[in-house]
Order: sequence, then structure tokens, then C-alpha cells
Amino acid sequence: MPKKIHLIAGMLATLTIATFFLSTLGTELFGTYETVAIVKAWIVMPGLLILVPAIAATGGSGMFMSKSLQGRLVEAKKKRMPFIAANGLLIMIPCAIVLNRWAAAGTFDTTFYVVQALELLVGAVNLTLMGMNIRDGMKMSGRFRASKQIAP
Ligand code: HEM
Repeated sequence: MPKKIHLIAGMLATLTIATFFLSTLGTELFGTYETVAIVKAWIVMPGLLILVPAIAATGGSGMFMSKSLQGRLVEAKKKRMPFIAANGLLIMIPCAIVLNRWAAAGTFDTTFYVVQALELLVGAVNLTLMGMNIRDGMKMSGRFRASKQIAP
């Protein structure tokens, strides 16, 4: 059961951040101020309502499963998790909240774009760390096997 929860929550959290990232980039590059404001509002609600429990469930179930495990992959995953959580809680969530407020008020000034750039940068870092955790998790669960060498 914890393994199933971990798989679903980990994939959901990663897909949620990927959706935030791509919809932000898409609307900032090609959308109007109105579409940017709509995306910002969706990221806060229901976006954060999905992301925060998904990250908590991923970390909690991962730590629970790792109690009885040792090894390089599990240690690497454990080390990445505080960065993933801190980036999310201390940078991405506050950025999402203030960007939503400013976009709703129509304030698209330099500060907005500096905070937007920071949110995208930290989002990319988190996606990379989460991708590495997915890769190592799938190696541990045996979903990724080393491909067979074919003799010449
Ligand atoms: C956002 C962070 C994380 C993501 C996206 C993630 C994702 C995954 C995925 C996709 C799997 C494969 C599951 C399967 O094939 O059924 C997995 C397995 C696993 N993860 Fe994570 N994980 C994360 C964090 C953690 C943390 C912090 C730990 C704790 C050390 C952890 C421990 C494990 C363990 C022990 C397994 C393998 C279980 C087994 O098959 O023996 N994960 N993870």
C-alpha cells in the first residue's frame, strides 16, 4: 500500500509542477494578461491544494518505505527530498500567491517578472530533482532494468 501511494503521489506531484511550469511559460510567451491571470489563479486554487498533499504523501510514504532499506539510491533520494520540499514550500508557494495577487490586480511590472523568473527557475530545479527521484525509485523497484548487452 505505501508503495502504491508513493508511486501515485510522486507522479501526481511531478505532473502538477510540470503543468504549472508549462502553462506559465505558454501563457507568458503567447497569452494575454487575462490568460496569465487565469492561469495564476488556477495554480493557487486548486493547484496548490493538489500539490501540497501530494508532496507530503510522497515524502511520508518514501521515508516509511526506506526504514528497512539501505543503499546509494535510497540515500540519494533522501538527500534530495529536503531541497524539493524547501523549494516548494519556501519559494514556489509564496511566488505563486504573490504572482496571483499581482496578476489579478493587473500589476505586470518588473518585480512581477523577476518573481516569475525565480518561480520558473526553482520549478525547473524541482522538476529535475523529482525526475531523478523517479528514475532512482524505478531502479529500486525494478521497473528500470539494465538493458541486455547483445554480443557482437
Ligand atoms: C518527490 C519525490 C519523489 C518522487 C517523485 C518519487 C518517485 C518514486 C517512484 C516513481 C518510485 C517507483 C515506484 C514503483 O515502481 O512502484 C519510487 C520508489 C521508491 N521511493 Fe520514491 N520518490 C520520491 C521521494 C522519495 C523519498 C524522499 C524516499 C525516501 C527515502 C523515497 C523512497 C522510495 C523507495 C524506498 C522506493 C522503492 C520501493 C521498492 O520498490 O522497494 N522516495 N519513488
